[in-house]
Amino acid sequence: MNRILVIGAKGMLGKDLIPELQSSFPDGEVLGWDIDEIDIRKERETIREIVRARPSIVINVAGYTDVDGCESNEREAFAANADGMKHIALGASQCRAKAVYLSTDYVFDGKKGIPYLEDDPPNPLSVYGHSKWKGEQYTLQLAENGLIIRTQWLYGLHGKNFVMAILRQAKEREVLSIVNDQIGSPTYTVDLSRAIALLIRKKARGIYHVTNRDFCSWYEFGQAILNLSEIKHVQVLPITSKELNRKAVRPSYSVLNTDKFKQEVGIELRTWSEALKDFLSHIQRTEALV
Ligand SMILES: NC(=O)c1ccc[n+]([C@@H]2O[C@H](COP(=O)([O-])OP(=O)(O)OC[C@H]3O[C@@H](n4cnc5c(N)ncnc54)[C@H](OP(=O)(O)O)[C@@H]3O)[C@@H](O)[C@H]2O)c1
Repeated sequence: MNRILVIGAKGMLGKDLIPELQSSFPDGEVLGWDIDEIDIRKERETIREIVRARPSIVINVAGYTDVDGCESNEREAFAANADGMKHIALGASQCRAKAVYLSTDYVFDGKKGIPYLEDDPPNPLSVYGHSKWKGEQYTLQLAENGLIIRTQWLYGLHGKNFVMAILRQAKEREVLSIVNDQIGSPTYTVDLSRAIALLIRKKARGIYHVTNRDFCSWYEFGQAILNLSEIKHVQVLPITSKELNRKAVRPSYSVLNTDKFKQEVGIELRTWSEALKDFLSHIQRTEALV
Protein backbone atom coordinates (compact mmCIF):
# COMPACT_ATOMS: atom_id res chain seq x y z
CA MET A 1 0.00 0.00 0.00
CA ASN A 2 1.27 3.47 -0.86
CA ARG A 3 1.75 5.86 2.01
CA ILE A 4 2.35 9.22 0.37
CA LEU A 5 3.66 12.18 2.34
CA VAL A 6 3.19 15.62 0.74
CA ILE A 7 5.36 18.38 2.24
CA GLY A 8 4.08 21.87 1.37
CA ALA A 9 0.47 20.67 1.62
CA LYS A 10 -0.95 24.15 2.30
CA GLY A 11 0.68 25.75 -0.73
CA MET A 12 -0.97 26.44 -4.08
CA LEU A 13 0.08 23.14 -5.67
CA GLY A 14 -0.14 21.14 -2.44
CA LYS A 15 -3.83 21.95 -2.00
CA ASP A 16 -4.72 20.53 -5.42
CA LEU A 17 -2.25 17.65 -5.20
CA ILE A 18 -3.66 16.10 -2.03
CA PRO A 19 -7.19 15.40 -3.39
CA GLU A 20 -5.72 14.19 -6.70
CA LEU A 21 -3.50 11.66 -4.89
CA GLN A 22 -6.43 10.55 -2.73
CA SER A 23 -8.51 9.77 -5.79
CA SER A 24 -5.62 8.30 -7.83
CA PHE A 25 -4.53 5.99 -4.99
CA PRO A 26 -7.81 5.05 -3.25
CA ASP A 27 -6.15 2.14 -1.46
CA GLY A 28 -3.28 4.31 -0.26
CA GLU A 29 -2.89 6.83 2.50
CA VAL A 30 -2.04 10.48 1.86
CA LEU A 31 -0.46 12.63 4.57
CA GLY A 32 -0.16 16.41 4.17
CA TRP A 33 2.38 18.43 6.14
CA ASP A 34 3.38 22.08 5.96
CA ILE A 35 5.55 24.46 7.97
CA ASP A 36 3.40 23.92 11.10
CA GLU A 37 4.19 20.20 11.08
CA ILE A 38 7.76 20.26 9.80
CA ASP A 39 10.37 22.89 8.99
CA ILE A 40 12.42 21.33 6.22
CA ARG A 41 15.31 23.73 6.89
CA LYS A 42 15.98 21.74 10.08
CA GLU A 43 17.96 18.63 9.25
CA ARG A 44 17.51 16.44 12.32
CA GLU A 45 13.81 17.24 12.78
CA THR A 46 13.03 16.62 9.10
CA ILE A 47 14.83 13.29 8.94
CA ARG A 48 13.36 12.16 12.28
CA GLU A 49 9.75 13.03 11.38
CA ILE A 50 9.94 11.44 7.94
CA VAL A 51 11.42 8.25 9.34
CA ARG A 52 8.72 8.23 12.03
CA ALA A 53 5.93 8.61 9.43
CA ARG A 54 7.32 5.67 7.36
CA PRO A 55 6.08 6.87 3.95
CA SER A 56 6.72 4.95 0.75
CA ILE A 57 6.80 8.22 -1.25
CA VAL A 58 7.66 11.78 -0.14
CA ILE A 59 6.68 14.64 -2.45
CA ASN A 60 8.31 18.00 -1.79
CA VAL A 61 6.16 20.91 -2.97
CA ALA A 62 7.36 23.21 -0.18
CA GLY A 63 9.84 26.00 -0.56
CA TYR A 64 10.69 29.67 -0.67
CA THR A 65 8.85 30.55 -3.89
CA ASP A 66 9.02 34.36 -3.87
CA VAL A 67 11.41 34.67 -6.82
CA ASP A 68 12.27 38.35 -6.24
CA GLY A 69 12.40 37.86 -2.45
CA CYS A 70 15.06 35.17 -2.95
CA GLU A 71 17.42 37.77 -4.49
CA SER A 72 17.70 39.65 -1.19
CA ASN A 73 17.44 36.53 1.02
CA GLU A 74 19.92 34.17 -0.57
CA ARG A 75 20.63 32.24 2.60
CA GLU A 76 16.91 31.71 3.23
CA ALA A 77 16.35 30.60 -0.38
CA PHE A 78 19.08 27.95 -0.21
CA ALA A 79 17.99 26.83 3.28
CA ALA A 80 14.42 26.08 2.13
CA ASN A 81 14.85 25.13 -1.53
CA ALA A 82 18.20 23.30 -1.52
CA ASP A 83 18.97 22.18 2.05
CA GLY A 84 15.27 21.45 2.65
CA MET A 85 15.34 18.97 -0.23
CA LYS A 86 18.62 17.51 1.02
CA HIS A 87 17.03 16.79 4.42
CA ILE A 88 13.93 15.29 2.79
CA ALA A 89 16.04 13.08 0.52
CA LEU A 90 18.08 11.87 3.50
CA GLY A 91 14.93 11.10 5.51
CA ALA A 92 13.29 9.38 2.56
CA SER A 93 16.32 7.22 1.82
CA GLN A 94 16.48 6.11 5.48
CA CYS A 95 13.03 4.58 5.12
CA ARG A 96 13.64 3.52 1.50
CA ALA A 97 10.96 5.90 0.28
CA LYS A 98 10.88 7.49 -3.13
CA ALA A 99 11.55 11.26 -3.06
CA VAL A 100 9.88 13.63 -5.53
CA TYR A 101 11.03 17.23 -6.01
CA LEU A 102 9.12 19.96 -7.84
CA SER A 103 11.50 22.18 -9.78
CA THR A 104 11.35 24.99 -12.25
CA ASP A 105 12.15 26.32 -15.73
CA TYR A 106 14.18 29.02 -13.93
CA VAL A 107 17.11 26.56 -13.77
CA PHE A 108 17.65 27.51 -17.45
CA ASP A 109 19.00 30.78 -18.86
CA GLY A 110 16.40 31.02 -21.64
CA LYS A 111 18.95 31.39 -24.42
CA LYS A 112 18.33 28.06 -26.19
CA GLY A 113 15.54 29.36 -28.43
CA ILE A 114 13.74 26.01 -28.72
CA PRO A 115 12.04 23.99 -25.94
CA TYR A 116 14.40 22.70 -23.24
CA LEU A 117 15.04 18.97 -22.88
CA GLU A 118 15.51 17.29 -19.51
CA ASP A 119 19.24 16.83 -20.02
CA ASP A 120 20.00 20.33 -21.27
CA PRO A 121 22.57 21.93 -18.96
CA PRO A 122 21.04 24.33 -16.42
CA ASN A 123 22.43 27.84 -16.10
CA PRO A 124 20.16 29.72 -13.67
CA LEU A 125 19.97 33.51 -13.82
CA SER A 126 18.48 34.04 -10.35
CA VAL A 127 19.06 33.02 -6.73
CA TYR A 128 15.75 31.13 -6.81
CA GLY A 129 16.87 29.22 -9.93
CA HIS A 130 20.25 28.41 -8.35
CA SER A 131 18.65 27.19 -5.13
CA LYS A 132 16.23 24.95 -7.04
CA TRP A 133 19.04 23.52 -9.17
CA LYS A 134 20.94 22.66 -6.00
CA GLY A 135 17.78 20.95 -4.71
CA GLU A 136 17.67 18.93 -7.94
CA GLN A 137 21.27 17.81 -7.42
CA TYR A 138 20.51 16.61 -3.89
CA THR A 139 17.50 14.69 -5.21
CA LEU A 140 19.60 12.86 -7.79
CA GLN A 141 22.54 12.23 -5.43
CA LEU A 142 20.79 11.27 -2.21
CA ALA A 143 17.33 9.94 -2.94
CA GLU A 144 16.50 6.40 -3.89
CA ASN A 145 14.63 6.48 -7.22
CA GLY A 146 14.53 10.27 -7.01
CA LEU A 147 12.06 12.01 -9.33
CA ILE A 148 12.38 15.65 -10.40
CA ILE A 149 9.43 17.32 -12.09
CA ARG A 150 10.24 20.67 -13.68
CA THR A 151 7.26 22.89 -14.36
CA GLN A 152 6.48 26.59 -14.86
CA TRP A 153 4.06 29.53 -14.63
CA LEU A 154 1.71 27.81 -12.16
CA TYR A 155 -1.75 29.07 -11.30
CA GLY A 156 -4.57 27.56 -9.31
CA LEU A 157 -7.32 28.34 -6.86
CA HIS A 158 -5.25 28.31 -3.70
CA GLY A 159 -2.41 30.78 -3.95
CA LYS A 160 -1.00 34.02 -5.26
CA ASN A 161 -0.60 33.75 -9.01
CA PHE A 162 -0.69 35.70 -12.26
CA VAL A 163 -4.30 34.87 -13.21
CA MET A 164 -5.71 35.98 -9.88
CA ALA A 165 -3.48 39.10 -9.95
CA ILE A 166 -4.77 40.11 -13.41
CA LEU A 167 -8.41 39.58 -12.39
CA ARG A 168 -7.84 41.65 -9.23
CA GLN A 169 -6.02 44.45 -11.08
CA ALA A 170 -8.74 44.56 -13.74
CA LYS A 171 -11.18 45.59 -11.01
CA GLU A 172 -8.92 48.48 -9.97
CA ARG A 173 -7.36 49.79 -13.20
CA GLU A 174 -8.18 50.58 -16.81
CA VAL A 175 -4.70 49.99 -18.20
CA LEU A 176 -2.41 47.06 -17.43
CA SER A 177 1.24 46.84 -18.53
CA ILE A 178 2.44 43.27 -19.01
CA VAL A 179 5.82 41.92 -20.14
CA ASN A 180 5.93 40.62 -23.67
CA ASP A 181 9.50 39.31 -23.83
CA GLN A 182 9.26 36.24 -21.60
CA ILE A 183 7.84 33.10 -23.20
CA GLY A 184 6.62 30.02 -21.34
CA SER A 185 3.71 27.65 -20.79
CA PRO A 186 1.13 28.61 -18.17
CA THR A 187 0.26 25.49 -16.17
CA TYR A 188 -2.86 24.76 -14.12
CA THR A 189 -2.10 23.12 -10.75
CA VAL A 190 -5.02 20.69 -11.18
CA ASP A 191 -3.52 19.36 -14.44
CA LEU A 192 -0.03 19.22 -12.96
CA SER A 193 -1.34 17.28 -9.95
CA ARG A 194 -2.81 14.66 -12.28
CA ALA A 195 0.52 14.44 -14.11
CA ILE A 196 2.41 13.94 -10.82
CA ALA A 197 0.07 11.08 -9.87
CA LEU A 198 0.58 9.47 -13.30
CA LEU A 199 4.37 9.66 -13.04
CA ILE A 200 4.26 8.12 -9.56
CA ARG A 201 2.04 5.31 -10.78
CA LYS A 202 4.56 4.62 -13.55
CA LYS A 203 7.38 4.58 -10.96
CA ALA A 204 9.19 7.21 -13.03
CA ARG A 205 12.63 8.36 -11.88
CA GLY A 206 15.06 11.02 -13.05
CA ILE A 207 13.97 14.34 -14.58
CA TYR A 208 10.66 15.08 -16.35
CA HIS A 209 9.28 18.30 -17.78
CA VAL A 210 5.54 18.80 -17.24
CA THR A 211 3.50 21.81 -18.35
CA ASN A 212 0.27 22.51 -20.17
CA ARG A 213 0.75 22.38 -23.94
CA ASP A 214 1.61 25.37 -26.22
CA PHE A 215 3.28 28.58 -25.12
CA CYS A 216 2.80 32.34 -25.00
CA SER A 217 4.19 35.52 -23.46
CA TRP A 218 2.86 36.92 -20.15
CA TYR A 219 1.26 39.68 -22.26
CA GLU A 220 -0.61 37.14 -24.41
CA PHE A 221 -1.56 35.19 -21.29
CA GLY A 222 -2.91 38.39 -19.70
CA GLN A 223 -4.95 39.21 -22.80
CA ALA A 224 -6.40 35.69 -22.85
CA ILE A 225 -7.42 35.98 -19.18
CA LEU A 226 -9.28 39.23 -19.87
CA ASN A 227 -10.86 38.02 -23.14
CA LEU A 228 -12.09 34.75 -21.67
CA SER A 229 -13.46 36.62 -18.64
CA GLU A 230 -15.20 39.06 -20.99
CA ILE A 231 -13.50 42.02 -19.36
CA LYS A 232 -13.58 44.64 -22.07
CA HIS A 233 -12.84 47.92 -20.30
CA VAL A 234 -9.16 47.16 -19.61
CA GLN A 235 -6.43 48.03 -22.09
CA VAL A 236 -3.29 45.86 -22.05
CA LEU A 237 0.06 47.37 -22.98
CA PRO A 238 3.10 45.23 -23.83
CA ILE A 239 6.28 46.19 -21.99
CA THR A 240 9.79 44.74 -21.72
CA SER A 241 11.31 42.99 -18.70
CA LYS A 242 13.78 45.88 -18.54
CA GLU A 243 10.89 48.32 -18.14
CA LEU A 244 9.32 46.16 -15.41
CA ASN A 245 12.70 46.08 -13.65
CA ARG A 246 12.17 43.24 -11.20
CA LYS A 247 14.91 42.13 -8.84
CA ALA A 248 15.34 38.62 -10.24
CA VAL A 249 16.27 38.11 -13.89
CA ARG A 250 13.91 35.65 -15.61
CA PRO A 251 14.73 33.56 -18.68
CA SER A 252 13.32 35.09 -21.86
CA TYR A 253 12.37 31.75 -23.43
CA SER A 254 11.97 28.83 -21.05
CA VAL A 255 9.46 26.58 -22.81
CA LEU A 256 9.96 22.99 -21.61
CA ASN A 257 9.87 20.05 -24.02
CA THR A 258 7.40 17.55 -22.51
CA ASP A 259 7.86 14.63 -24.95
CA LYS A 260 9.52 12.44 -22.30
CA PHE A 261 6.46 12.80 -20.04
CA LYS A 262 4.16 11.96 -22.95
CA GLN A 263 6.17 8.86 -23.79
CA GLU A 264 6.22 7.71 -20.16
CA VAL A 265 2.52 8.08 -19.34
CA GLY A 266 0.92 7.91 -22.80
CA ILE A 267 -0.88 11.26 -22.65
CA GLU A 268 0.00 14.94 -22.81
CA LEU A 269 -1.64 17.74 -20.87
CA ARG A 270 -4.26 19.88 -22.60
CA THR A 271 -3.29 23.29 -24.03
CA TRP A 272 -2.79 26.20 -21.65
CA SER A 273 -5.80 28.01 -23.17
CA GLU A 274 -8.13 25.01 -22.63
CA ALA A 275 -6.92 24.72 -19.04
CA LEU A 276 -7.33 28.47 -18.48
CA LYS A 277 -10.92 28.35 -19.78
CA ASP A 278 -11.67 25.55 -17.35
CA PHE A 279 -10.05 27.40 -14.45
CA LEU A 280 -11.94 30.63 -15.17
CA SER A 281 -15.28 28.88 -15.40
CA HIS A 282 -14.47 27.12 -12.13
CA ILE A 283 -13.85 30.51 -10.49
CA GLN A 284 -17.11 31.88 -11.90
CA ARG A 285 -19.05 28.90 -10.55
CA THR A 286 -17.36 29.25 -7.14
CA GLU A 287 -18.09 33.00 -7.01
CA ALA A 288 -21.71 32.39 -8.04
CA LEU A 289 -22.10 30.16 -5.00
CA VAL A 290 -20.77 32.79 -2.56
N1 LIG B 1 4.46 28.80 -8.55
C1 LIG B 1 5.10 28.57 -9.69
O1 LIG B 1 4.87 29.24 -10.71
C2 LIG B 1 6.13 27.47 -9.78
C3 LIG B 1 6.80 27.25 -10.99
C4 LIG B 1 7.73 26.22 -11.08
C5 LIG B 1 7.99 25.42 -9.98
N2 LIG B 1 7.34 25.66 -8.80
C6 LIG B 1 7.67 24.81 -7.65
O2 LIG B 1 6.49 24.08 -7.31
C7 LIG B 1 6.42 23.90 -5.89
C8 LIG B 1 5.08 24.39 -5.38
O3 LIG B 1 4.93 25.77 -5.70
P1 LIG B 1 3.72 26.62 -5.09
O4 LIG B 1 3.56 27.78 -5.99
O5 LIG B 1 2.58 25.72 -4.77
O6 LIG B 1 4.39 27.15 -3.74
P2 LIG B 1 3.68 27.90 -2.50
O7 LIG B 1 2.26 28.20 -2.80
O8 LIG B 1 4.59 29.01 -2.10
O9 LIG B 1 3.69 26.77 -1.37
C9 LIG B 1 4.86 26.40 -0.69
C10 LIG B 1 4.46 25.90 0.68
O10 LIG B 1 5.65 25.54 1.38
C11 LIG B 1 5.59 26.07 2.69
N3 LIG B 1 6.94 26.25 3.22
C12 LIG B 1 7.79 27.31 3.03
N4 LIG B 1 8.94 27.12 3.71
C13 LIG B 1 8.82 25.93 4.33
C14 LIG B 1 9.66 25.18 5.21
N5 LIG B 1 10.88 25.64 5.57
N6 LIG B 1 9.24 24.00 5.69
C15 LIG B 1 8.01 23.52 5.35
N7 LIG B 1 7.15 24.17 4.53
C16 LIG B 1 7.55 25.36 4.03
C17 LIG B 1 4.89 27.40 2.50
O11 LIG B 1 4.41 27.89 3.74
P3 LIG B 1 4.28 29.52 3.90
O12 LIG B 1 3.27 29.94 2.89
O13 LIG B 1 3.82 29.66 5.31
O14 LIG B 1 5.65 30.08 3.62
C18 LIG B 1 3.78 26.99 1.54
O15 LIG B 1 2.66 26.45 2.22
C19 LIG B 1 7.62 24.64 -5.32
O16 LIG B 1 8.66 23.70 -5.12
C20 LIG B 1 8.04 25.59 -6.42
O17 LIG B 1 9.43 25.89 -6.38
C21 LIG B 1 6.42 26.65 -8.68
